[in-house]
Amino acid sequence: MDIKKVLVADAVDVACTDLLKKHGIQVDCKYKLPKDQLIQEIPNYDGLIVRSDTKVTADVIAAAKNLKVIGRAGAGVDTIDVAAATEKNVLVLNTPGGNAISACELTCALITNMARNVAPAAESLKAGRWDRKLYSGHELYGKTLAILGLGRIGKEVAIRMQSWGMKTIGFDPIISVEAAKEFNVESLPLEKIWPQADYITVHTPLIPQTRNLINAKVLASCKKGVRIVNVARGGIINEADLLEALKSGQCGGAALDVFEQEPPTAAVTLEIIKHPKVVATPHLGASTTEAQIRVAVEISEQFIALTGKSKEFTSTPGVVNMDVMKNLKK
Ligand SMILES: NC(=O)c1ccc[n+]([C@@H]2O[C@H](COP(=O)([O-])OP(=O)(O)OC[C@H]3O[C@@H](n4cnc5c(N)ncnc54)[C@H](O)[C@@H]3O)[C@@H](O)[C@H]2O)c1
Repeated sequence: MDIKKVLVADAVDVACTDLLKKHGIQVDCKYKLPKDQLIQEIPNYDGLIVRSDTKVTADVIAAAKNLKVIGRAGAGVDTIDVAAATEKNVLVLNTPGGNAISACELTCALITNMARNVAPAAESLKAGRWDRKLYSGHELYGKTLAILGLGRIGKEVAIRMQSWGMKTIGFDPIISVEAAKEFNVESLPLEKIWPQADYITVHTPLIPQTRNLINAKVLASCKKGVRIVNVARGGIINEADLLEALKSGQCGGAALDVFEQEPPTAAVTLEIIKHPKVVATPHLGASTTEAQIRVAVEISEQFIALTGKSKEFTSTPGVVNMDVMKNLKK
């Protein structure tokens, strides 16, 4: 693929532009362009790199006369209209593994925080109170953690939380019972998971099968006081149902990094965020120095591999629309 000129439209670590330039690719960084400006600029480029801010919608893609590839420096391509890109034979790439450890570590931090009420207790002390009784917690040792989605992040969460003495159970339609056992997760059907779990953490993509995976019926079949964690994608947990379960005490706490809309505007979401039993963070799963450098390097390595001019970078593991890749090879 002939990639001469790339537009970096979101603030991606400088490691990305450095590597592209080193391989003879011209790079322009123009962050947070309003949509009409992006539509004006895009015909000048044959590559586009984004993170989360720029939405690569069908009208942007329609205007992109010379565009060959769109890369997202991050996991998932929710902000890119992949169908429109595929229609125009534009390759879409992401960097699925680059921020897995960071997302995993935030998940573990949220679980441990919930067990010991770290965030609300710290907030209360800052406000001048000395509330030792109110913020007494519980141990994680001996508790059961259910992990839904045993891919890159789910597996790493299991390994780390086992060192806290948690029993790990889980479900993933493509990870076999034997494969899960290798990292000490007992794979079970969902209906057996709900009544056992003290904590449930979701690590699946948001797809039709996982939308509302945690809903009123599921929450009702869990232990009273079950705690829920979502560092994956908003929409996997039904927010209205979660709020009801928090209010009734059926859900003993929730830790959320992702929401149905981001930034959140819906009344239900805002009420969840303010609930005393909820710790909420503004989509920080991938927000570490290490992950940002890793995804920046990984996306540029894949662009360079596509040019076919490097002996060092030859693979594109983050291709999302394989049909376009197959057309390229014809
Ligand atoms: N909060 C953040 O900033 C952040 C950062 C990185 C990743 N993520 C998100 O975390 C999630 C997991 O990422 P990953 O890299 O581990 O992905 P992955 O592809 O490695 O693993 C996802 C797993 O979910 C499984 N799965 C699919 N449908 C399922 C279902 N119905 N029930 C149970 N499991 C199912 C898949 O088989 C797969 O093994 C993704 O949604 C990703 O976008 C969020």
